[in-house]
Amino acid sequence: MAKKSDYIAVFDSGVGGISVLRQLLRVLPNERYLYFGDSINAPYGTRPEAEVRQLTIAAAEKLRKRGIKAFVIACNTATSAAFEALREAFPDMAVIGIEPALAKAAEAFPGGHVGVMATPGTLKGARFLNNKARFDAVCRVNPLPAPGLMELVEAEKYDSPEADALLDALLPQDLDALVLGCTHYPFTEPSIRRVRGQKVALFDGAVITAAETKEALAAADLLYEGPGEVIVENSMPGERMVSLSRRLAGLE
Ligand code: DGL
Repeated sequence: MAKKSDYIAVFDSGVGGISVLRQLLRVLPNERYLYFGDSINAPYGTRPEAEVRQLTIAAAEKLRKRGIKAFVIACNTATSAAFEALREAFPDMAVIGIEPALAKAAEAFPGGHVGVMATPGTLKGARFLNNKARFDAVCRVNPLPAPGLMELVEAEKYDSPEADALLDALLPQDLDALVLGCTHYPFTEPSIRRVRGQKVALFDGAVITAAETKEALAAADLLYEGPGEVIVENSMPGERMVSLSRRLAGLE
């Protein structure tokens, strides 16, 4: 039986899920968090779906042994590949995912040009294709796979001439909105602003994921009043990924 003081596990293929952890800390500041980034197996976005599912289930199994009351899949690619499988495998654990915030962007820009920047895996997945079919009638949904961008974030080059060049080549000039459909991408906002200015509106699914996590815990009467705690771990040997994660989270 889960307890209020159990951890909220937050999982991503690397440091990207820290953009989700930041939102969680805003709405649930008194919780105990156990963040795990699987940088050694990253990127997930160019792996076959079955492999991503396997890696995500393996991470959930490992983290469950530490006492967790919720598992937040802070990765669009892993949510697309493994959300249903995780709910089935762990029926007694709250599982919350993330997906590109296309509905919000379409609602704000009916008839507009909406780019969805995400990994090739997310953009090929049934979840996104269903959403695209739904919103194609509302706005021009433009999938923008960005291979290479998560690697720049993992290499601490999210605000760099390399990121500027990649984004400038990828992003159409006339976008009204850009959905950040990979949790690594919010860290590239300074680069996006440099190459496309302030006019393009950015949408990040992390806000929705954080609200859903709060709702799920409240419904199960599992909200914790503190003291809060954040543990950050990474499958990559050495301190670099943990230290980068903690800095991106504003913890040091
Ligand atoms: N951060 C992940 C996502 O949200 C994936 C990055 C990757 O491993 O390719 O999609």
